[in-house]
This record gives sequence, structure tokens and C-alpha cells, in this order.
Amino acid sequence: MDKELLEATAAALVAPGKGILAADESNGTMTKRLEGVGVESSEEARRAYRANLFATPDCESAVSGVILYDETIRQSMGDGTSIPDYLNSRGILPGIKVDTGTIDLDGHPGEKVTKGIEAEDDWNDLPTRCKEYFEMGARFAKWRAVIAIGDGMPSDACIRANADALAHYARICQDAGLVPIIEPEVLMKGAHTAQDCLQATSRILVQTWEYCMNHYGVHLPGALLKPNMILAGEDCPEQLSREEVARMTVECLTSHSPTELGGVVFLSGGQSDEDATAHLNLMNEMDVGHPWELSYSYGRALQAAALKAWADEEEGGAEASQVAFAHRAKMNSLARSGDWNLSLE
Ligand code: 13P
Repeated sequence: MDKELLEATAAALVAPGKGILAADESNGTMTKRLEGVGVESSEEARRAYRANLFATPDCESAVSGVILYDETIRQSMGDGTSIPDYLNSRGILPGIKVDTGTIDLDGHPGEKVTKGIEAEDDWNDLPTRCKEYFEMGARFAKWRAVIAIGDGMPSDACIRANADALAHYARICQDAGLVPIIEPEVLMKGAHTAQDCLQATSRILVQTWEYCMNHYGVHLPGALLKPNMILAGEDCPEQLSREEVARMTVECLTSHSPTELGGVVFLSGGQSDEDATAHLNLMNEMDVGHPWELSYSYGRALQAAALKAWADEEEGGAEASQVAFAHRAKMNSLARSGDWNLSLE
């Protein structure tokens, strides 16, 4: 394992003022997103939208890396330059989603475990794919576990199965020179309280580090954590204030994650664009110590406005999409140092 390379990559991904753009929606998810704004999905439609996003002027000042999907890492910009080469030429690290989705967890209705380590259907096994992605220019990877809260959920079996898979994936990536983003996402869906979210998040974090450190020998300074923030479920009548979200999230992380970790990059998980930015800003502004850079790896909170603008050709289409993306990227870049405020929106 090349620990120096892994640590340098992790540090570059959480460089001051920068964060990650998650543009790794699977074809199924991207089709839903495009159709949601009235655009028909095809390989070319997905390429055109994303290539335009990546070509946004000056986005490298706020974007350290982009997570790609398998289809996209093999695609090119309009001038024929491969997308990973193009991103590298802008000083943006290409990353790759390597999980292949979720399956039902046997014996636990409503719970899922993420797959992607063994060969399946058209996919090679994970070590083979990591090697190929590294050769294509990728320097980091992502694997997302989904943890639902509900009656008896998450079960211990769900926590263990997903923690094991996250740690196993992380080790395989590191052996191939890719920094693993470890993403155990506790979902916002449901009427659960913030306390329920705190408990579920704490449990999955503790188990994940147990598997990383004691079973798979993951090099933590060469890995990033991509957690959810501590939020009440979207249908819960009692929502936290932004300050409470920031405080509980930092407390949860500092209590349940190792200090050696290479950094923390939050997911947005369905929060509004402004909430995702405001929460990150508060965490970075707060007078509470934490040993890591706290950054972003947002999908929807960086892309929602850009996608909507892309679909509206009368209002400028491609250029308006870049303007919308540049604005969200700038807002989140400012939130990295607690320098965002509402008047900038
Ligand atoms: P969201 O920010 O939309 O949650 O996406 C981040 C991500 O990569 C989910 O896996």
C-alpha cells in the first residue's frame, strides 16, 4: 500500500476552500433526475449535461475532486478529451463510484446491504476494477451504505454487514492506490427524531471503524469519511435548529471517529441547498474543536439548480447551468471556513 500517495490524495481532496462534487449517479438515478426536469435520458444526454458542468469556468477553485460513474469515466468532453484527463488538466481529481448498488438484507425486511466486491453481471470484481480505474486516472473512490431508521431498524445485522463491506472495500481501494470515501448514509426518510439519527449514526460509525482498524488494516489517514449530518427525519414534527444540527453533528463525529482519519466530507442527503451550506458553515465557524477538515461531497445540493437551468433552454440552458453550479460551489467553498452568510445567496 502506497501510504504517501493515499495521504497526499486525501489532503488534496480536503484542501482549504475546496470540496467534492458527487456526479456519480447511476444511470437509473440520473435518468430519474433528468426526467424530473423534463429531459429525456440517454448516454449522450447524461454526457452532455455532465461535460457542461465540469467545464464551468473557475470551478477548480471550489472543487477538488469529482466522483464519476462507470459510464462517465469512459466518456469524453466535446473536443474528444477523456473526462478523467480533462478533470486532471484542470487540477481536479477524478474519483469513481465502485459499489454496484444495494440488495435486500436476508431476514431483515426493509434493510439493505451494499454490494460490489465480487464479480457480478457485467462487472469485474472490485480489485480488478480499481486497478483499471487507477490506470484511467482515478485517484479516489466511493462506496455508499444506506441505513434506514424505523421499527427495529437499523438492526445489528444491518450495521455489521454494511460496516464489514465498507471496511473491506476501503482496504481493496487502498491496495490499488485509491483513497476510499467511506459513506455510511443514515437516511432522512421517515418520522424519526434527531436523537434516533444520532444513535444510528453513532452505531454505524463505531462498527465501521472497528472493521477498518481491527479486521482490514485500513490506513485511516488515507481515507475520508462521508457522513450524514444529524437531522430529524423529514416527516418528524420536531426539527432541530441549524445551530443544533451543527453542534450535534460535530459532537457525534468527535465522539465516534478516529482522529487520524484523512478528513470528513458530508453528503447533502436531500437537505435544501441553503440548509446544506448553512450547516457546513456553522460547523466550521463554531468554537468546538475537531481534528479534521470538515468539507462537502454534495450531489443534489451542488447540482439541483444547475440541472433545472440545463433543462430550461429559453433561460440560457448550458450557460445558466454553469452559472448556477458556480454559485453553489462558491457558497459551499465559503462555508469551508465559516465565511458564508445568507446575504451572499
Ligand atoms: P447527495 O449530496 O445528493 O446526498 O449525494 C451525495 C452522494 O454521493 C450520495 O451517495
